[in-house]
Amino acid sequence: MSMTHMIRELLAIDGGTPVRKNLLPYGRQSIEEDDIQAVVEVLRSDWLTTGPKVAELEEAFADWVGAKYAVSFSSGTAALHGAAFAAGLKPGDEAITTPLTFAATANCILYQGSTPVFADVSPDTLNLNPAEAAAKITSRTRAVLPVDYAGHPADLAEIQHLADRHGLVVIEDAAHALGAEYRGLRAGGIAAMTVFSFHPVKHLATGEGGMVTTNRADLAETLRQFRNHGISSDARQRQAQGQWHYEMVLLGFNYRLTDIACSLGLSQLKKLERNLFRRRQIAALYAQAFRELEAIELPAVRADVNPAWHLYAIRLKLERLSADRAQVFRALRAENIGVNVHYIPVHLHPYYQKRFGVRAGEFPVAESAYARLISLPMFHGMADEDVEDVIRAVFKVASNYAV
Ligand SMILES: Cc1ncc(COP(=O)(O)O)c(C=O)c1O
Repeated sequence: MSMTHMIRELLAIDGGTPVRKNLLPYGRQSIEEDDIQAVVEVLRSDWLTTGPKVAELEEAFADWVGAKYAVSFSSGTAALHGAAFAAGLKPGDEAITTPLTFAATANCILYQGSTPVFADVSPDTLNLNPAEAAAKITSRTRAVLPVDYAGHPADLAEIQHLADRHGLVVIEDAAHALGAEYRGLRAGGIAAMTVFSFHPVKHLATGEGGMVTTNRADLAETLRQFRNHGISSDARQRQAQGQWHYEMVLLGFNYRLTDIACSLGLSQLKKLERNLFRRRQIAALYAQAFRELEAIELPAVRADVNPAWHLYAIRLKLERLSADRAQVFRALRAENIGVNVHYIPVHLHPYYQKRFGVRAGEFPVAESAYARLISLPMFHGMADEDVEDVIRAVFKVASNYAV
C-alpha cells in the first residue's frame, strides 16, 4: 500500500485532482433514527426541560464513567465554570493549567475572578507537565486543571500527588476524553471533578451540553445549585413550607441542560462503546499506515492509558519538509481533507496577551508543538474509504514536500 502512496502526484493546490470530491470534516456527529425518535418522544411529553430525562442521563453517565455523581450543564464551558466555582476559586486565587487547550479551560478560572497560571506541556503527550506545574505553585494556588489532550489522559497520579501535597483541587478537563482509561479507570471517576463536553464533534453529542462528575456529595450538591440560579434543591423539597417555597443560597446561573438534549444524550450513550471502538480502530489504521512516513510524528500513547481519540493530532517534522505547517494545511484542505489545528496556545490569544502580557517563547514545548500540529479527520462515523482518503492525501502531500 505504501509504495503506491509514495508516487508523486500533482497536488490539488497546484492544479491536480483532489483525493476526494467533497470535504471530509475533521469531526462530526452521528445521528441515527433512534436518536431522532428519542428527541421526538420528549417533544411529545410534558417536559422539555428539567424533567425525568435529566436525572436519567446523569445516573446512566455516572455509572458509565464509574463516578458516584454526575451533574449536567448546558455546555462543557458552563460545566467548567461550575467546577471552578465548586472548587472554591475566588478573586486573588491562582489555578494552574496548560496553554495547549481550548480557551474555555482557562476562561473558567477568569469567570471566578481568579488568575490562570500556565505551565508547559510534556513533549510526548502534550499534556500538562507535572514538574512544570509544580514549579508554578504559590501560596495563592487553589486548583490545577489538566486537560486530556486529544483524548489521552493527563498524568493524573502525579498531578493528584501534587494537589494532595499543596491542598489543591484537581479539575480534569476531559472534554476530549469520554471513555479514555488511565491505569484501568475511566476518566470521570479519578479527579475531584471531571468535566465533559457534548459538542457535536465529541464522542457523545447533545448539540450543546456538558457534565461534571465527582465522587463527593458536597461538590455534586454545589454544582446542582450553581447550574440552577443557586437555588437549593433541598428547600424545594421542604413540603412543609409550601409548594411555592424555594431558597436561593448562592449566586448561580441558568446552566441547565434540557430534557430534549438529555434524551438525545441517553440515546447516544447506548452507542458510546461502539463509537469508541471505531475511533480506536481508525487510530490504529492511521498508526499502521503512517509508521513509515518519516515526515510526521504520530501521537504518543503511554503504556498506562487507553486514549479515547477525540483528535488524531500529528506533528510535522518540519526539518524533513520543504513546506511549513500552513502550506501543508492548505495542501491537505485542497485535497478536500478537513484538517484543523488544536490549539493556538491560549496565552498567545490577544485577550490573554493584553491582560497578562505573557510573552511568546515562555512555553517552548507547547509553542513548538503548535507550529507543527495538524489534526486529521477523526470521528466515529468515518467509513473505511474516508480513512483511506486521509491516508492517501497525507502521503501525497508529504511525498511532494519531502526533502
Ligand atoms: C479542552 C476543551 N475544554 C472545554 C471545551 C468546551 O466545551 P463546550 O464546547 O461544550 O462548551 C472544549 C470544547 O471544544 C474543549 O475542547
